[in-house]
Amino acid sequence: MHLKILVTAGDGIGPEVTREAVEVLTEVLRDTGHTYSIDQRAIGGIAIKQFGRPLPEETLAAALDSDAVLLGAVGSNEFNSLPPEKRPEVGLLQLRSALGGFANLRPAFAFKELAACSPLRPEIIDGADILFVRELLGGLYFGQPREWNKTTNEAWNTMRYTKDEVARVARIAFELASKRRMKVTSVDKANVLEVSQLWRATVTEIAKDFPSVALEHQYVDAMSMHLMNQPKNYDVVLTENLFGDILSDESAVITGSLGMLPSATIGGKVNLYEPVHGSAPDIAGKGLANPLGAILTGALILRHSGGLEAEAAAIEASVRKVLEQGFRTPDLARTNPQSFTILSTTEMGAKVRETIKTMLVNA
Ligand code: IPM
Ligand code: MN
Repeated sequence: MHLKILVTAGDGIGPEVTREAVEVLTEVLRDTGHTYSIDQRAIGGIAIKQFGRPLPEETLAAALDSDAVLLGAVGSNEFNSLPPEKRPEVGLLQLRSALGGFANLRPAFAFKELAACSPLRPEIIDGADILFVRELLGGLYFGQPREWNKTTNEAWNTMRYTKDEVARVARIAFELASKRRMKVTSVDKANVLEVSQLWRATVTEIAKDFPSVALEHQYVDAMSMHLMNQPKNYDVVLTENLFGDILSDESAVITGSLGMLPSATIGGKVNLYEPVHGSAPDIAGKGLANPLGAILTGALILRHSGGLEAEAAAIEASVRKVLEQGFRTPDLARTNPQSFTILSTTEMGAKVRETIKTMLVNA
């Protein structure tokens, strides 16, 4: 297997965490006899500075020519006053739309070792294992028209979906649930929004092709509460773009830190992989960032773009092992730092690599 990976590290902590993810990935590929190439290109705020726009053409071309794109994070305080179409984030939205992946998989699972990081009681989160399937190319993020009219002092965005857009992402959710615990919870706001009524009707129709998977519908407001009260009730959670953005951050509470969560976007020309966390400018460059979300995102590259299940699982097992041994980045030791060995971003990356070596030798 040869994997051609494009890294778009982006802003803030993006470069620090993707560096560790790439070190871990390449270590595993080398040790298991696979070859790879890694190319690096600019996106986001750094690209605005270097190229005058958040998604330079050469970045897009390199992305379309790769097997997988690993993105760090985009967003930087210095661009906060710009209109949406000029901000670093638009580079990411353009990249998502050009690569075409419409199903954003965001697993949120509880690590036993991190139970103390969560404000939820251990018995609530222990064993929770949710896979969010967030529609990524429709809804308010991309719907037209959109505008802030400074003359009339009105602004509007459009939440728009076609039946086909809902059907294709629903199919992926049901397929994934068939390989998990056989349940899809579809989240909408069908008591108020027509677009959610279309969503609900379409998901119900697709469910007929998957008779062994249970389907339930939830309103998004109720769901945001259920997720905290009974996270273990959920297997695959299917939802539209903005609801998925919000609920996936909320679910970081189950994991203990947003810094732990990986994501993979599939269904398009090239899969796009990004940790769920943002650019965290407040801690950038200080060695405080948690690289485990990015490292686990690397595991998803091996699984979904390389078909390398054992190698992906080895990375995930190493992360677990490192946590079991009491190693933490500062975000994972807020409540009781004295009980752990606190590591910097690069030290954590090195620790995962060291552990992987022992796993691959023993495999
Ligand atoms: C995410 C982020 C992005 C989103 C931003 C940076 C555009 O919050 O991936 O969750 O809203 O999709
Ligand atoms: Mn988000």
